[in-house]
Order: sequence, then structure tokens, then C-alpha cells
Amino acid sequence: MLPVRLDRARPEPLPAQLAGAVRALVTGGTLTAGDRLPSSRALAADLGVARAVVEQAYDQLLAEAWVETRRGSGTYVASGGALPPAVSTTHARASAHAPAPAPEPAAPHASAPPTRPRTRPRTRTGTGTRPQPATREPQLVRLDAGTPWIDPRHLAGWRRAWREVSVAAAPRGYPDPRGLPDLREALAERLARTRGVQVQPDEILVTAGSTDGLRQLLGALPPGDVLVEDPGYRAAVEMVRAAGRGVVDHPGLEPVTDLAGCAAAYVTPAHQHPLGRVMPAADRLALLAAAREARAVVVEDDYDSEFRYDVAPVPALAALDRSRVAYLGTASKSVSPSLRLGWLVAPPEIHERLVRRRTVTHDTPPWPTQRAMLTLLRDGWADKVVRTARRVYADRAPRVASAMASHAELAGPLAGMYSTWLTDPAAAERARAAGRAAGFDVPLLADYCRSARLTGLVLGFGGVTDAELDRALEAIINGLTDGPGADAASGRAATGASPLRSDVLRTETSQNGDRQTSKEGVEAVDAASPVRPASPATPRAAGRTGRRPR
Ligand SMILES: Cc1ncc(COP(=O)(O)O)c(C=O)c1O
Repeated sequence: MLPVRLDRARPEPLPAQLAGAVRALVTGGTLTAGDRLPSSRALAADLGVARAVVEQAYDQLLAEAWVETRRGSGTYVASGGALPPAVSTTHARASAHAPAPAPEPAAPHASAPPTRPRTRPRTRTGTGTRPQPATREPQLVRLDAGTPWIDPRHLAGWRRAWREVSVAAAPRGYPDPRGLPDLREALAERLARTRGVQVQPDEILVTAGSTDGLRQLLGALPPGDVLVEDPGYRAAVEMVRAAGRGVVDHPGLEPVTDLAGCAAAYVTPAHQHPLGRVMPAADRLALLAAAREARAVVVEDDYDSEFRYDVAPVPALAALDRSRVAYLGTASKSVSPSLRLGWLVAPPEIHERLVRRRTVTHDTPPWPTQRAMLTLLRDGWADKVVRTARRVYADRAPRVASAMASHAELAGPLAGMYSTWLTDPAAAERARAAGRAAGFDVPLLADYCRSARLTGLVLGFGGVTDAELDRALEAIINGLTDGPGADAASGRAATGASPLRSDVLRTETSQNGDRQTSKEGVEAVDAASPVRPASPATPRAAGRTGRRPR
């Protein structure tokens, strides 16, 4: 939503206040040409005014050429040519009376267009008299793989949930150590309906997100290392290390067949993070067999499985074996990452251990957050967010794919809110630099790797606007095509292999050789390959914390 406040106590009519505030956002550089304004309905709901107020303000801005409408797709800040200096000067002065743009709006719409913090200093031509934004550190719009699209039109439901919280009576003492009972009931229903996991409400532990769930779980497991996919989720690696456990790097696409010495294996079977692949059925069975053999726990991070747009969501691993699998769910994709809420369904013994500990520590998420989540589930809000976001991703994923396809190799199927692209290292760096110059922080695949040596880009498309995505893709493609040996396909031709070939993906995970695998694939490639050459400065077992699997 727009960071705007209207003040009914002021004599200036509300439509004029709103128009002035939007002008101030444009002249101040918060909004730029091409940015989409919220629909009149959504903005009216956000500001708590009649829709006619917003419509009048938009009409005024349209007449003054500050904004333009595109048939069927909304209202956008007009391109620079439509803002003659004379007009902008007038309004810059007028806007001195407009309320200052409010600070960053509250969650969950902090990432919704167009109020996210902007990144690069705005440069406009012909606007010499326009006030320049104060010199701020330029912030980049991150193409973050984990930021979801939360449609600003759903704001009313979000508000309703928090209104309910404000009138509900909080528990008198410390809350239930497992989490709010009604919430656990709603979660059990949702897990069965959407993930095929049959669970009693009492078997669920409400957490402050998957990362917190993993932290708690690690505290309740017997001693031992933890196998983590490589490339993989960086927060999981951090959590394992923080728990004082060794990280065993395991090639992200290889089956896990041996968990000797490990207390757990952390995996993302529905959508390997960040390579995107669905874990094949045979690999699921092999993983469960290895876990049984080693008496280890499989930690299933089910972070974005609801966002398949081609097929129905892939069933959870926990549906196959509840006694070995600890299931981590999160509200970060279906409600908001800023809510910090998730759930953990652990094997019974571990669950009991966690509950006993929480009875003493009261280490549960805050009651208001749980209570709001309950309303969001009961009202069908979370389902609605998932449905709309899925449509947005289904539109954006192929757009990203068609822009990238001739410059890089797609890893995994199109699903979720990001896609991962393999390029040679130089191309990835060029794309990142071009992205930065255009105001975008483009994540590198290499940053998700520990022992693995893959290079490319991890392009999140959930947390940006359509206009931003277009601009980012344009910059990335320019970066990819601009430079020696620019075509990733030619880089692959030089290596004669797909970078996802299993021998190349293998990592060297152990200094004592018990998990060590072939290095041939790694060392055979040259600098034009999407597989990073091993750096002499990087120890081979970079992903490990020094402890070895026993
Ligand atoms: C692999 C993975 N797991 C989990 C999460 C969500 O973690 P949390 O619930 O702590 O927000 C993300 C978010 O980006 C993720 O990428």
C-alpha cells in the first residue's frame, strides 16, 4: 500500500490530500515512472475512506498527467515525459503542505507494491527544480527467493484478524506449550487437506517459523551431525552450526542412502532449495530406509509446496512415515514472512521432549500472533493468499523462463516463487553487476553452495512488482549477453555436459573419505562452466564445521 496518511482534521478535502501525497511520493523519488498504484478499492480499504475519495484523487492526478491508466491493468506513475518541470515545481511546492509520506507500512504488506524500500537514487532529466531525495544509502530491490506475493487487495481480511485479536481475551497464564489449541486444530485440518498429513492437533507444535522449528528440534535430538543439502537453505546450515552440530554436505540432487553418524537429515523434498527438483519416489524411500537404519530423523522443510501451478502439490514425505519424519511448515509463504509463525510435527518421542521443555521455558510464539493466524485460517484468508499468489507465480514463472531460456539453463521444474538458472561464473557476475546498476540485488547460486560448485542465478519473483520484474530481467539479460563467451549454452558446449550431471554435482564432504565422492566432474570443467572451479583458498570441506560423521 502507499505510505500515505490522511488527516480528517485538516480543512483540505481528502481527495486533495491524497493527490498531494501521491505527488510528494513521485517528486520525492519513492514512486517512479511505471510503478503501479494500488487499485482504488484496495487503497480505499487501506486508508479507511470511501472508494470515491481515491477515485477522485486518481482522476485529478490523471488530468495533471502524474499518472496514466492502462486498459484493464490499472493506474501507473506516468513516464518522465509526462512530468514537465513546470508542473513538478508547482506540485513540489504544493506538496510541502501534504502530509509527509508515512514510514514503512506494517506487515504483511511491506513487500507489496509499491511501498517497498526503493533502491537506487532516482535520476530524472528535465527536473532540475524538483527537490532531490536526501542522500540515503541506495537500497536494492532483492529478487529474493523467499519473499512471497501478498496481494494488497487482501488487506481487509488481514485487518479483520487483528481487530479480532484486539477484542479477544488473552489467556490468563502462560499459554499452552504446544500452541493455541484452536490454532492447532485449524492447522491439523489444513495439513490433512493440503498436504495429506494426518495428524492430531496435540501432535502439532506451533513455532515462530521453520527456522525456529528447526532450532527447537535440533535441541531435542541426540548428539550427531546433520546432513544438509548442498546447495541448500542457508538458514538451516546456520541453525545446525549454531546448535554445535557438524554439517554434512550432501549433493542436493543425489539420493541419501547413508546416514551413519547423523542425528538428522534436513531436506526440501517437494521443491529442492534452490535447485527446484521434486525428490523422486525412489529417493524418498531410500532416505527413509537410511534414516531407519541409522535411527536418524528426516527433517522435511515443506516451505513452498503449495505453489505448484502445473500439477497438484506433491505429497509430503511425512505422509509416508510419521515415526521418522519431523515436518516443518511455515506461514511465511501463505500469510507473511513477517508474521514469524510456523508448525512442527515431530516423531512422538521428540514431540514429547519438546513439549516437556516448553512447559518450563514457555518458548512459544506470542499469543496475539497465534490468535491472528487462527482467524486468517478460519476465514479462508491463507487459502485465498495462496490461490492469488499461485496465479501470479503461474504468470511470472514463464515470463522469467522465456526471458532467460536462451541465456541460461533452468534447474528443476517451474514452481514456487523463484527459479534457478545455471550460467558460467562470469556471466552470473555480469548479471549481478547489471542488476545492481539497475537497482536490483540478484542472488547468486554460488552463495547457496558449500562444497558444491554450481554457478548461476536464483531469481525470486514473488516480492517484486511486474514492472520491477521486467526491469530486473532486462538488466539481467543485458548482463548475460554482454561480455566474452556470453552465451551460457556455449559455456556448456565447452564442457560437453549439463552442469546438473550427477558426477559434477557431487561434493567432497568428508576429510576422512567416508562420504567422499568423485572429484572428476568438478575438476574437469573450465572457467566457462556453470560449475565453479575449486578455489585453492576454499577448503574442500568448506560446508563442514569440523566434526565428521562417525
Ligand atoms: C527453504 C526454506 N525453508 C523455509 C523458509 C521459511 O522459513 P521461516 O518459516 O523461518 O520464515 C524459507 C523462506 O525463504 C525457505 O526458503
